[in-house]
Amino acid sequence: MSETPPVLKDRAEVRSGPVAHGFTTLRPSFDEASLARPATAEVTDLVIAAADGTELVHGVSLSVRPGEALGIVGESGSGKTLTCRALLGILPAGLAVTAGSVHVDGVDLTRAGERDWRRVRGTHIAAVFQDPASYLNPAIPVGAQLEETLRITAGLPRRQARERARELLDDLGIRRVDLVLRQRVAQLSGGMLQRVLIAMALAADPAVLIADEATTALDVTVQAELLDLLRRLRVERDLALVLVSHDLAVVAQVCERVQVFRDGRVVEAGPTSRVLRAPAHPYTRELLSAHAAYGLERFLP
Ligand SMILES: Nc1ncnc2c1ncn2[C@@H]1O[C@H](COP(=O)(O)OP(=O)(O)OP(=O)(O)O)[C@@H](O)[C@H]1O
Ligand SMILES: [Mg+2]
Repeated sequence: MSETPPVLKDRAEVRSGPVAHGFTTLRPSFDEASLARPATAEVTDLVIAAADGTELVHGVSLSVRPGEALGIVGESGSGKTLTCRALLGILPAGLAVTAGSVHVDGVDLTRAGERDWRRVRGTHIAAVFQDPASYLNPAIPVGAQLEETLRITAGLPRRQARERARELLDDLGIRRVDLVLRQRVAQLSGGMLQRVLIAMALAADPAVLIADEATTALDVTVQAELLDLLRRLRVERDLALVLVSHDLAVVAQVCERVQVFRDGRVVEAGPTSRVLRAPAHPYTRELLSAHAAYGLERFLP
C-alpha cells in the first residue's frame, strides 16, 4: 500500500456549487454612480524609469473602487506589470517611480519607504501572478505556508491561523480542505496552487486584489472556475479587482471598465462594453481584430 496521498486535480477537488454558477449572474452592470465612490487604489500620471533615465511607463493613471473590477489589456511589454508592481511597491531592482502618485486605501504611498509599504502590502492591497508554484516552497506543505502568511499578515496566533486557513480554502470552493493543506506543490494542480495563492493574498482581507495573468497558464475550464471565483469574491467582499490579461474575453467577462496599454501609456479607457464594441483608438481596433476569429462577441457585456 502506498503512503503517498492521492494527487489532487482541480476537477476532482473543486466543489460544484457556489463557484460553478453561470458567468453573467454576478456581474453588476457598469454603474456610473460608483465613480462617485472614493478610489481604493489609484495611480496618477505615474512615470517609471530605469536608473539610466530610460522611461518605461510614461504617465499612466488608473483607479479602482470597492467592488469594481478594472481590466488592463495591451501587448507584451506595454507596462501592465510594472504599473501593478508600482501599486504594490515592489518594482524590480533598478527601476523607480520618478513622477506621479500612488494611493492605496486612502494612504499616499508616493514617497513611502519599505516600512510603510510593508504595512499596506497584504493588508490593503495584494496580488496573484502567473506561475503560482514559484511563490511557494516545494518542501513545505501548502497549509503550513498559508498559516504562516495568516500569522504574519493577519497577525493570527497559531491555532486561529490553522482554523482560518481551513475557512479560507473552504470559502474558495475547495473540497477535502484538510488533505489539500497537507500537500506540497508537486502534488497539486496549477489551478489548486493558484487558489492557495489567492487564499494567501486574501489572508488579511485586503481592499484591492491585483490578478496579473493569474489564470493565463491554466486550462480553459480551470481558468473559467477561477474567474468565476474572483467575480464572486469581489461581490462578497466588496473587493476592488485589477485584472491584467492578454485575453480580451477574460476581461470582457469580469470587468466593468478596461484600460488599454501600449508602449507604457494608456491609449484608451472606458466601460468594457463601449471599448470592446466601439473602440475609439486604432490600437484597440487592432487588438480586437486579433481576437476576431475567437468569437469575442459571445463574451461582451
Ligand atoms: N527589471 C526591468 N528592468 C528593465 N526593464 C524592464 C524590467 N522589467 C520590465 N522592463 C521593461 O519595461 C517594459 C514594460 O514591462 P512590463 O513587464 O510592465 O510589460 P507587460 O505589459 O506586463 O508585458 P507582458 O504582457 O509580457 O507581461 C518592457 O519594455 C520591459 O522590457
Ligand atoms: Mg506582465
